Amino acid sequence: MSSNLRPIGVFDSGVGGITAVKEIHDLMPGEDIIYFGDVGRVPYGNKSSDIILKYASQDISFLKSLGVKMIIAACGTVSSIINIQSLNKDLPFIGVINSACIAAINSTKNKKIGVIGTETTIKSNSYSKCIKSINKEAQVYQKACQVFVSLIENDISSLPYDIVYGIVKENLSYFNEFNIDVLILGCTHYPIIEPIISEVMGPEVKLINSGKEAVKYAESVLKNQNLKSSGTFGGKCSFFVSAGAKTFFETASRFLGYNVVGNAREVNIGLY
Ligand code: DGL
Repeated sequence: MSSNLRPIGVFDSGVGGITAVKEIHDLMPGEDIIYFGDVGRVPYGNKSSDIILKYASQDISFLKSLGVKMIIAACGTVSSIINIQSLNKDLPFIGVINSACIAAINSTKNKKIGVIGTETTIKSNSYSKCIKSINKEAQVYQKACQVFVSLIENDISSLPYDIVYGIVKENLSYFNEFNIDVLILGCTHYPIIEPIISEVMGPEVKLINSGKEAVKYAESVLKNQNLKSSGTFGGKCSFFVSAGAKTFFETASRFLGYNVVGNAREVNIGLY
């Protein structure tokens, strides 16, 4: 198959990376996608670096076995601990940290930037280091919100709005005293609850969707390497998961606006 007709590979620990899939559909509607969600081993964000590296390398081997032309680690946790440069050898490999930090620096007026992510992401300081390498005057305030991942993986829509709003508000109250004007959603799960985060933070705080920024960057890489599909519509996404998960299919279908169930298969990721 000609290089630019091959699909883009996208992976995450679970349903979070579908926020990047949505952006690919919107920005590059002619691109086919293969999505792998490691639902059987979610969450990644409270696991050790060694385990996350092992899981990520299996996820990557699986996507490569299907002949993808690019891989997007649509996962803040994996992007925080993996050496992206070292993976950029046989095909372009994109993480979510750099492009989100650039967007945050371009958006902030007061140089006070908040970051939310998983426990591992926040402990790694990946976003903070990257922001300061772009602008050392920026002040970065970080808060791990691992609980948001569990809420989203366990079908947030089944919980009363007030309960979810209360949990989000309590976690984000950390930022009250810092006067941030930008908040990076440093975990790809979080755009699924973006309306609630936005309501809690208020209109003066701009939210940066890390998956969306990564997809914009991915488009520029595909163009530069002559890998972009010439198609302008009709791109399809095939879904693979490491365990059957009703919630994954429901959340993904709701977020993407089409039914993913008939288009999903289970894979034994331990074999990769
Ligand atoms: N969506 C992922 C991230 O961006 C992983 C969340 C998790 O599995 O804890 O960090």
